Amino acid sequence: MRILSGIQPSGALHLGNYFGMMKPAVELQDQGEAYYFIANYHSMTSLFDAEERRKNTLDVALDFLACGLDRKKSVFFRQSDVPEVTELTWLLGTVTPMGLLERCHSYKDKIAKGISPSHGLFSYPVLMASDILIYDSNVVPVGRDQKQHVEVTRDIAIKFNEQYGTTFVIPEPRIRDEVAVVPGTDGQKMSKSYGNTIEIFGEEKAIRKKIMSIVMDSRPVTEPKPDAEKNLAIQLLKLVAPEPTAKEIEERLRAGGFGYGDLKKTLFEHYWNYFAAARARRAELQANLDYVHQVLSEGAARARSMAQTVLTRAKRASGLD
Ligand code: ADP
Ligand code: TRP
Repeated sequence: MRILSGIQPSGALHLGNYFGMMKPAVELQDQGEAYYFIANYHSMTSLFDAEERRKNTLDVALDFLACGLDRKKSVFFRQSDVPEVTELTWLLGTVTPMGLLERCHSYKDKIAKGISPSHGLFSYPVLMASDILIYDSNVVPVGRDQKQHVEVTRDIAIKFNEQYGTTFVIPEPRIRDEVAVVPGTDGQKMSKSYGNTIEIFGEEKAIRKKIMSIVMDSRPVTEPKPDAEKNLAIQLLKLVAPEPTAKEIEERLRAGGFGYGDLKKTLFEHYWNYFAAARARRAELQANLDYVHQVLSEGAARARSMAQTVLTRAKRASGLD
């Protein structure tokens, strides 16, 4: 089984990225051949600062390695180190119906948020299809918001196969129901573009402040809260605290007498402890950037040779070679 996923270097990674994509990706490393990459070409559709892209790319590499991505088990690389992916994007674009892209929620959402509607933003899913198909990927671990893009990939692969003969493997999204959408500090989907994130490696004071400022309702402490499972802090606590602890806190809130301030403090403590080991690993990596660059260039070489094989197959099939 070949597993593949990508993450954009468009800002500091947060709990939504971690539980929705990174943790499942790290766990899948043991079940097949994993390819994980930093989608820096994709980030060009919404981030226009070169220095920021360079910095974010290194940060994503540090974050992912600190969170358990293992260079011995996975091929880890930067998208732009495999330029073949852009060539395949062209081939795929020619069999992609306009309507398929016009239906994409992500494009419509981004425009609604004020990102300018460029050709790159519109054809973003075709580049993503190329990312997936060029490694003969079977399984793509992502959060729910990316499901449609994997479906688009399947449609494009099927079209190409019908037109030119079987060339591509048809991939499947792998979405974990329990963390399909991690809520942000305002209750909406946690996202870099909503300003509601809790970063994985945020600074202690800043994150404490963010957590303590989560808005709760005005019911008095003593009042029982029969809807405790809907409480935002409880939902986040379930991700970072051991199950029995989270259950016990939920029951205390349900019963009444447990204040929201204490609840948020408990959430912060568990968040902080949950990432303690990863934080230490990240500091070590930060002090050894040569190693990080070496991991990425080694990954690029391995990814590239695989990509060349599949691109050659697609060019042959379509009469380019
Ligand atoms: P953002 O919305 O912050 O820009 P990205 O689009 O870069 O995040 O997402 C990177 C990966 O993390 C994708 O696989 C996406 O599905 C996952 N992800 C992002 N936010 C969440 C969330 N709130 N819940 C679950 N998964 C998420
Ligand atoms: N579009 C994905 C996101 O924003 C990132 C991505 C690019 C990706 N190419 C991919 C994810 C291929 C999975 C497979 O999160």
